[in-house]
Amino acid sequence: MTLIQLSDLTKVHNPGQPNEVIALRQVNLIIERGEAVALVGRSGSGKSTLLHILGCMDRPTSGTYLLDGTEIPWTDDRALAALRSQRIGFVFQDFALVPGLKAWENVALPLVHRGTTFRQARYRALEALGQVGLSDRADHYVESLSGGQRQRVAIARALINYPDIILADEPTGALDRDTGDQVMDLLFHLLRKDTTIVVATHDASLAQRCHRVLTIQDGTIVE
Ligand SMILES: Nc1ncnc2c1ncn2[C@@H]1O[C@H](COP(=O)(O)OP(=O)(O)OP(=O)(O)O)[C@@H](O)[C@H]1O
Ligand SMILES: [Mg+2]
Repeated sequence: MTLIQLSDLTKVHNPGQPNEVIALRQVNLIIERGEAVALVGRSGSGKSTLLHILGCMDRPTSGTYLLDGTEIPWTDDRALAALRSQRIGFVFQDFALVPGLKAWENVALPLVHRGTTFRQARYRALEALGQVGLSDRADHYVESLSGGQRQRVAIARALINYPDIILADEPTGALDRDTGDQVMDLLFHLLRKDTTIVVATHDASLAQRCHRVLTIQDGTIVE
């Protein structure tokens, strides 16, 4: 079943300015529900730009993005925020955790945005931290955690709302090989069968674990 359908999707950064960059050129792409897709390509080829659009964090310049057959409401910021928080989980190279908050508070953030009570949010966050093997770090500030532990906190946060889609931008990029492998083992293990994952990576072993590897070259998918 098709989850994501991109048609002639183009993204121009800074259109009309001297620093204009065409980051995506008429991309056509179908991703099925439950598929694991790796996005590979040289630095600057457009991987992050594509992930940002898939995650409704950035809007295309032209073309269409259908999610479950419905076009993304690009001009409705509230609807976009709801889509992001309810259907999409993000994992970034630099973890993107909130400093000054404890591990469990970071994990609970997407729930707080949905109006979950404090008690419920803490309960669910502790459960999610248990799944990534960090029960004993729940009350530690994220600054005091190792890179691998931080990425596990980020994974717990990404999964807390049972998203349809996980988007990961070089999730192992800041980790040594063994730690990166362990973190991704954990992520793949925790994914439900119908969760779709799109991961941009320079890590060949990570790409090989996906069902499909897409190569992007200068804003175009060349397969
Ligand atoms: N916010 C922005 N403003 C202007 N240009 C941008 C912006 N973001 C990306 N670009 C440009 O768009 C192109 C694609 O960038 P993108 O970050 O998508 O590449 P990438 O494949 O993720 O690279 P990397 O592997 O280095 O992360 C690059 O030429 C980049 O300079
Ligand atoms: Mg990138």
